Amino acid sequence: MSALDDITNNDAEGSMQDGKRLHGRTIVITGGARGQGAAEAAALLEQGAAVVVTDIVDEVGQSLAEGLSSLGRCEYRHLDITSVEDWQALATSLAQEGRVVHGLINNAGAPQRGRILDIPLEGWNRGIAVNLTGAMLGIQHVASLMTEGGSILNVGSIAALSAHHQVSYTAAKWGLRGLTKVAALELAPLGIRVNIVHPGFIDTEINSGAPQKLLDTQLSLTPAGRPAQPAEIAHLAVYLMSPESSFLTGAEIPFDGGYSSHGGAKVILDSISGTTPSHRSEPTPDVVPDELPIGPQ
Ligand SMILES: NC(=O)c1ccc[n+]([C@@H]2O[C@H](COP(=O)([O-])OP(=O)(O)OC[C@H]3O[C@@H](n4cnc5c(N)ncnc54)[C@H](O)[C@@H]3O)[C@@H](O)[C@H]2O)c1
Repeated sequence: MSALDDITNNDAEGSMQDGKRLHGRTIVITGGARGQGAAEAAALLEQGAAVVVTDIVDEVGQSLAEGLSSLGRCEYRHLDITSVEDWQALATSLAQEGRVVHGLINNAGAPQRGRILDIPLEGWNRGIAVNLTGAMLGIQHVASLMTEGGSILNVGSIAALSAHHQVSYTAAKWGLRGLTKVAALELAPLGIRVNIVHPGFIDTEINSGAPQKLLDTQLSLTPAGRPAQPAEIAHLAVYLMSPESSFLTGAEIPFDGGYSSHGGAKVILDSISGTTPSHRSEPTPDVVPDELPIGPQ
C-alpha cells in the first residue's frame, strides 16, 4: 500500500465502488416523504445507497419512493416515529428480509407551538414524543440491524442551541443533544457512530404555518441572509453516512448560515453599519463597514 493509499483508505467502514460512496449500504430515513428527508433520500440514492423512506404521509411517501426508484433501490414504509409498534414492525420486517442496515437518519420532527405558561401537558408531551422520544425508539430498534457497524444522524435544530419560542420543541431538541452524546458513547463499541446536525432556516413545509414576520426576523438574524434549500443539507447527510466521516461521532454541527454563531452581534453590526438586512436568494460576499466602533466585547 502506498503512502497515498494509506491516507485515503476508508476501509474501516467499507469502500467506494464505481465512484459511489455509499455502495452496498442500506439507510433508513424517518419523515422522509418531503423536505430535508426527501432531499437526503435522493442524494443517498445517487451515491449508491438503498434507501428506506418512512413517514406518516403515506401517499406522498409512496409517490416519492416511486419517483426516486430510477436512482436506485428506494422503498416506502409507513412509520409513526412515536409508535413502538411501528418501530417493531419495521425492524421485524427488515430482519425477516435479511437486511443489514448501515445508516439511520432520525429526521422526522414537527413544531409544537405553545409558551411555557400556556402549553397544556398534552401539547408538551406531543412535542417531546415527536421531537425526542421517536429518535430514541429509532436507535433502540435499528441498532440491532447494524451488524456491520453504522452511522446515525439525529436532526436537531438551532432551537437546541439557545432559547427558542416553542418550549416543548426546544426542550425536546435540547434532549436530542444528550441522546446523541450517550448513544455515541454506548454504541461506539458496536462500530456505530452517532452525530447531530442543527438546521437553521431550511426552506421546507415545516415553516409554512409560521407568520411571515417571524421568518423575516429569523432571516435578519442569519448572516448568510437566506434560507438553505433541502438539497444543501443533504450533502452533509451523505458525508455523515459515508466512510469519509469514519472517525466523527458525538459531534454537533450547526447548519444555519451563521445564525447560532453570533450571539446577537449581527444586530449590533447591522445597527452600526446602518445597513438594512437584505434577504437574498443566493449567497453574497460579506458587507463589513471600514471602521467599526469599539463597544462592549
Ligand atoms: N426546516 C427548518 O427550518 C428546520 C429548522 C430546524 C430544524 N428542522 C428539523 O428538520 C427536520 C426535518 O424537517 P423539514 O424541514 O424537512 O420539515 P417537513 O415538515 O418538510 O418534514 C418533516 C417530515 O416529518 C414527518 N413527520 C411528522 N411527524 C411524524 C411522525 N410522528 N412520524 C413520522 N414522520 C413524521 C412529516 O410528515 C414530514 O414529512 C425536523 O426534525 C425539524 O424539526 C427544520
